[in-house]
Amino acid sequence: MENFRYFGALWILIMMNTAVLFGRRVYRYLHSFRLISKSICSGRVKNDEFMKESVEKSNFDTYFSWNTNVEEPLSGLSHIGSDNDEKECFSTRRRFFDDARCNAERVIEILRQDGPGFDAKLCLDEMQVRVSNQLVREVLINFLEKLDRTNKTRCAKLGYKFFVWSSCQKNYRHTVNTYHLIMEIFAQAEEFKAMWRLLDEMTENGYFVTARTFNILICTCGEVGLARDLVERFIKSKKFNFRPYKHSFNAILHSLLGLKQYRLIEWVHQKMLLEGYSPDVLTYNILMYTKYRLGNLDQFHKLLDEMCRDGLSPDLHTYNVLLHVLGEGDKPLAALNLMNHMREVGCIPSVLHFTSLIYGLSRAGNLEACKYFFDEMANKGSHPDVVCYTVMITGYVVAGDLEKAHTLFDDMIIKGYLPNVYTYNSMILGLCYARKFEEALSMLKKMESVGCNPNFFVYNTLVRNLCNAGKLAAAHEIIRQMVEKGQYVHLLSRFKRYKRC
Ligand SMILES: *[C@@H]1O[C@H](CO)[C@@H](O)[C@H](O)[C@H]1NC(C)=O
Repeated sequence: MENFRYFGALWILIMMNTAVLFGRRVYRYLHSFRLISKSICSGRVKNDEFMKESVEKSNFDTYFSWNTNVEEPLSGLSHIGSDNDEKECFSTRRRFFDDARCNAERVIEILRQDGPGFDAKLCLDEMQVRVSNQLVREVLINFLEKLDRTNKTRCAKLGYKFFVWSSCQKNYRHTVNTYHLIMEIFAQAEEFKAMWRLLDEMTENGYFVTARTFNILICTCGEVGLARDLVERFIKSKKFNFRPYKHSFNAILHSLLGLKQYRLIEWVHQKMLLEGYSPDVLTYNILMYTKYRLGNLDQFHKLLDEMCRDGLSPDLHTYNVLLHVLGEGDKPLAALNLMNHMREVGCIPSVLHFTSLIYGLSRAGNLEACKYFFDEMANKGSHPDVVCYTVMITGYVVAGDLEKAHTLFDDMIIKGYLPNVYTYNSMILGLCYARKFEEALSMLKKMESVGCNPNFFVYNTLVRNLCNAGKLAAAHEIIRQMVEKGQYVHLLSRFKRYKRC
């Protein structure tokens, strides 16, 4: 249960981390899958695409998203902290971390100079530093974070040089985590062959690969064939530590879900059945969500039947998906019945469930039902949160009812909720729809003044709508501000597609 993350902010954080760690490749990857799901959904609700993405990201997908960046606990610290005096222990620890950081800086300085006429390895040897897990992490994380398009190959080369050098040092052994870090560096540098060689090396040296290893690698499998090979390899691997999942299939399915690899999920499911593994509730939840995302509601219902026939009871996540599907199908009465049923079986609907339902209903354009459940939630003693408010506001904006959207926006602030970047984006969009461009621009100023950093969706909403309205000077001013902040410069070309811009 704790693997399922709910809050929008958390999802955004996860997305940001993923983007930082994997760079543009994953972005492209996720984006292409989003396009597939979009083409399936298109024709249903012609929402603004960016807003749709933003709401999906801030809301529904979060229920099934999985923090792919969970690192195993810091290792290599077991030798400290034997002292019972906590203060003493703390300062020892502090000193240890400070030393590692300081040494890491020296190591990086030496590595940078590597080249003809400068033997970095020799220099590192002469430095006589004690190589610890923390030091290796510091150095690799630095390379990973500082790497950019112009020097990615060099970063990978230097990172690997250090990785090999450190593995030869006394009393030091790489951990699964340090392997993951160098793999991520290779992933960013698009050195895929090297990544796969590292996987071989890990297995040969007796390391247990984890769901994280799988995640890093699967992100670089551009072709379906390669992705399937990887899945097979992990299924067969005796060195795959898939805990806390029941079996390797669930670990892989869950990973693929985080990456929205729905076709691959179907394929893995078939394989799982062929090999005689029986699905549990988690498996069913993932599969049902997949069928829903692929627009295959027949199979969605078949799976639900099958699950109940297998004697498995739907859990909170199953109900969550069900409610969303009922919402999108514009079936508020069925949803009401389902919620009553949930209460009878002791699964009390939470804000999460109401939000999923409301989101579905808003996509079906039934704002009246949205409002009913929004109020019903309060009647039942749960209070809407920021995500729920954002979903309602977005629903009103898309339906062209800026006034109601504004009322809710004010309401949430009065109640002490902080609008997030998606709330602001929806409000800005609504103001643009109503051609209140001055207000839209002051909304941008407002969000910045309260410390809510606009993301690319926000800039894009403004630029597109200003361009469409022929307000080129204002659009260019927004672009200038964005560039001045040094953000999203690599996405600048996206603005070119707007007429007159
Ligand atoms: C790569 O480029 C970034 C940004 O330009 C810089 O901060 C980093 O130090 C460079 N890394 C190396 C190893 O040269």
